[in-house]
Amino acid sequence: MQRIFSGVQPTGNIHLGNYLGAFRNWVQLQDDYDTIYCIVDLHAMTVDYDPAQLEKSRIDTAKILLALGVDPDRSMLYTQSQVSGHTELAWILGTMAPMGVLSRMTQFKEKTATGAASNLGLYSYPVLMAADILLHRAHLVPVGDDQRQHIEVTRDLAERFNNKFGDIFPVPDGYVPKTSARVMSLTEPTSKMSKSDQSPKSRIALLDNPDVIRKRIRSAVTDSDPEVRYDPETKPGISNLLEIMSSCTGSKVDSLVAEYGSSGYGVFKDAVADAVIAELAPIKARYDDLKSDDVRDVLSAGGHKARESADGYMKEVRRVTGITGY
Ligand code: AMP
Ligand code: TRP
Repeated sequence: MQRIFSGVQPTGNIHLGNYLGAFRNWVQLQDDYDTIYCIVDLHAMTVDYDPAQLEKSRIDTAKILLALGVDPDRSMLYTQSQVSGHTELAWILGTMAPMGVLSRMTQFKEKTATGAASNLGLYSYPVLMAADILLHRAHLVPVGDDQRQHIEVTRDLAERFNNKFGDIFPVPDGYVPKTSARVMSLTEPTSKMSKSDQSPKSRIALLDNPDVIRKRIRSAVTDSDPEVRYDPETKPGISNLLEIMSSCTGSKVDSLVAEYGSSGYGVFKDAVADAVIAELAPIKARYDDLKSDDVRDVLSAGGHKARESADGYMKEVRRVTGITGY
């Protein structure tokens, strides 16, 4: 059976973009693949953070993943810092990662441009992400559009490793949805919806209540031409709402345009809000029922399984790279 691996940073503010771009696929892929999902707390340390908040965010992120349908009976769900193989393999891959490639990473450039201190961890972030994926020998990686460049680095490092040490790692592919791979900000629809945007109005948090969701969508920035039409260049706000509605209802963008083309933005936005509320309400209800202690138990059990599996694979990596086993 082919293996899936993906990760999410426990940085709070999980939003509709995370869900439609990535997590929904995480849930669907459980039916046909061997799935491993990881809360990547070591990645979250690459920007300024508060240790007490990290523990809260870790549990909260796991709770959201369980509420939206990640099923611990079918998927391994654990925390990156529980399994030392991630950092060990990152070191090994780091010795093969060209500085030039890492210097070109959009995420690194964006984060340092918007105020993050440029530290070695942030710079080598894509190497740790490659290690996450290759540690478990995954074939497919469900992510949003913004992670494509990191998947390319992972593929490159897998090939470099295999060329030097033998055919150990599958060269993984990204798995990016056709619609909503890049959900845009509601206040600035030419930028992606982001956890770190200062303004909560820019996003729909997964646990927002229906009133807030409707308010956010009603006040989403659009344009002054009243036609509902898909054109991300000239109508980024409306196009974003069309994609969101399409993903939430399963209707094609074209048929939504046919239905709402001339109905006016007010009516259209209310329909988008209805669709998003219908999609998110059951997640919030399940989230409210979950207990933090039970979530900790799930992560602890997932961590044990992940460590056992990773340790076995790391033995082979150590052997081929000439690292001592005693
Ligand atoms: P992060 O919040 O950066 O840990 O991202 C978790 C997952 O959500 C990754 O697979 C991202 O590619 C995806 N993601 C983040 N923001 C968006 C967005 N605005 N639209 C679609 N996918 C996103
Ligand atoms: N870099 C990813 C993000 O910001 C999170 C991540 C870390 C990840 N390791 C991963 C995603 C491995 C997929 C596979 O969204």
